[in-house]
Amino acid sequence: MNIRNFEIFRKYVSENKGNKLRRCLVRCDLNLPSDIEDLSRVYLIKDTILELLDLGIKVSLISHYKRPSREKISNSEFSLKNIVLAISKVLEKKVEFVESSIFDIDPKTINSDIVLLENLRFYEGETKNNDELAKRLAQFGDVYINEAFSVSHRKHASIDAITRYLPSFAGLSFQKEIERLSQVISNIEKPFTAIIGGSKVSSKIGVLKRISQTADYLIITGAMANTFLVAKGTDMKNSIFEIEQLDTAKEITKTSKAEIVLPIDFLASQDIKNSGTNFDYEKIPNGFSCFDIGERSTENIIKIIDRSKTVLWNGAIGAFEFSNFNKATGIITKEIAKRTKNNNLISVIGGGETIASIGEYKKDMTFVSTAGGAFLEFVAGYELPGIAALQN
Ligand code: 3PG
Repeated sequence: MNIRNFEIFRKYVSENKGNKLRRCLVRCDLNLPSDIEDLSRVYLIKDTILELLDLGIKVSLISHYKRPSREKISNSEFSLKNIVLAISKVLEKKVEFVESSIFDIDPKTINSDIVLLENLRFYEGETKNNDELAKRLAQFGDVYINEAFSVSHRKHASIDAITRYLPSFAGLSFQKEIERLSQVISNIEKPFTAIIGGSKVSSKIGVLKRISQTADYLIITGAMANTFLVAKGTDMKNSIFEIEQLDTAKEITKTSKAEIVLPIDFLASQDIKNSGTNFDYEKIPNGFSCFDIGERSTENIIKIIDRSKTVLWNGAIGAFEFSNFNKATGIITKEIAKRTKNNNLISVIGGGETIASIGEYKKDMTFVSTAGGAFLEFVAGYELPGIAALQN
């Protein structure tokens, strides 16, 4: 894939030695899983940052963090301040956090080697790909590097519009991720099974529709599974599902070339803090929510994995952050890892939460990407705005 990669950036730096390349604006994805124990996304940016510093170029880090609504932008829960220490530890460098709005501070007064600017989604223009915001961000660097492959499916100001205002390049990890992912998907061995879970139904369902045309088995879990079951007429009681996606779920069920596999039983409880009880999918009691798939569903999935040559997995299977609801995730992870290690399976795992859910087993998988939505869209063959912006 032809993008302005890091090699081209190095050349650009050496050709521009005379001109002052004082600071680089680095778009990273610091949208860490809620418990921030999994710091993979921070480790991903380390090599690029260290090389920039070696080249004598200071760094302005920019990222979004979660999805704050307009009313909640002053809420500390959404501030990148929460993770600045974790970033500093991983990079083994001091990171100065700039809390003020980028419109209130003079970029020229920033001197530290590494600064982290506040959550990009605090600015309305970010998700609107707004040029004014991009122009302002461009003042925090003389050159731009996208080191956030995992956000490259978003046509946002810090991903797309910014490339109109600064010389722009891909970071080392960005480049590596698309190269390795392209390699894996260029030759998918069949039977090919996709496991799609997690809680982001609306942002994934379009991709799921595409994958339903190429996979042999489509295993659906999480809130996505609840949505498909409700579309089929199941009463999921208090479980999370997306009512606006019921028609799409019905359409996919009708048109899928893949065999769609939905849970047939669940671990459910009235409160996520309580331990769950196994119920048939048609017998969930009133007031209960499903937080994990049940034993029979887990066995079904293992049987399908056993028949598969390639497994692509994105999205958590259950509420794995709660030890009472991580059983299915644990069993399925171990089975995939074992078969991969024995060379019986190619396993491609993507997504911040998904990686957090498989823990130490990530080292046993064929390919692990920190990207979730971007990973799925790339695999499904969509053009990603973040990649397109670095191509022209
Ligand atoms: C992710 O976690 O997949 C990326 O950070 C993108 O987040 P978003 O789905 O909120 O845009």
